[in-house]
Amino acid sequence: MSAPVTGSVQAVVVDPETVGRHRTIVTIDGPAGTGKSSVSQRLASRLGLQFLDTGAMYRAAAVVVIDRQLDIADVAGVCEVVAACDLHFDWRTDPPALLVNGQNVMHRIRDDDVTRLVSPLAGIGRLREHMVRKQRIIANQHPRLVSEGRDQGSVVFPDAEVKFYLDARPEIRAARRTAELRAKGKTVDEKVVLREIIERDLSDSTRTDGPLTVPLDAIEVDTSDLDRDQVIDLLERHVRIRVGLS
Ligand code: DC
Repeated sequence: MSAPVTGSVQAVVVDPETVGRHRTIVTIDGPAGTGKSSVSQRLASRLGLQFLDTGAMYRAAAVVVIDRQLDIADVAGVCEVVAACDLHFDWRTDPPALLVNGQNVMHRIRDDDVTRLVSPLAGIGRLREHMVRKQRIIANQHPRLVSEGRDQGSVVFPDAEVKFYLDARPEIRAARRTAELRAKGKTVDEKVVLREIIERDLSDSTRTDGPLTVPLDAIEVDTSDLDRDQVIDLLERHVRIRVGLS
């Protein structure tokens, strides 16, 4: 595991084997509120790679559970229903829109009820296995990807060309999340947001399957004192050096 990076590019050895190779998978993992989603999306577009939002896949599963009024204690039932759904991205839009049985669910996946359910749902091992399989199939079809989530570098793509782990102090993450929600016109208490962030971190990092963890060989970036563009610049430099993208 490499030392945390805060602002400078570490010396990395260019691997000639990976230069110009068809497959380029960049994984970005880390807890909520690190700016992962917007960083991943913009990094993908700068590098000419596609963007895979794996959190959206778990959120879509939560939408299915809510809409069908399933009980998440019924693990077999939940897994069966979610697996039977046709869940796929429409790659023609940027970011790719997620469809469940042909219905675009993007307007729904950040709703409060979905956000509350998704963490316990993502703790179901069998559901994770299904999602991991789907994510690997997606990568076979779209082999030039920035893939963002909690387990992308540790479980799904351990052989990814470049792995990042973004983090930030919980108070900073809570302040960012609060500002984001207020910008959407929501009334929120920053202390409650902080408590929820800490609870979600705990739930995501202590589950047995695919826990939130720093992947082996990941480049750790503490985004606490960096703005979004500084983070993107830093990640872009790392990828270009390591993979030889021009
Ligand atoms: O990144 P996000 O907030 O959209 O993720 C939603 C939830 O899904 C969050 O609780 C973590 C979980 N998740 C996961 O367990 N594994 C992933 N690869 C992506 C997200």
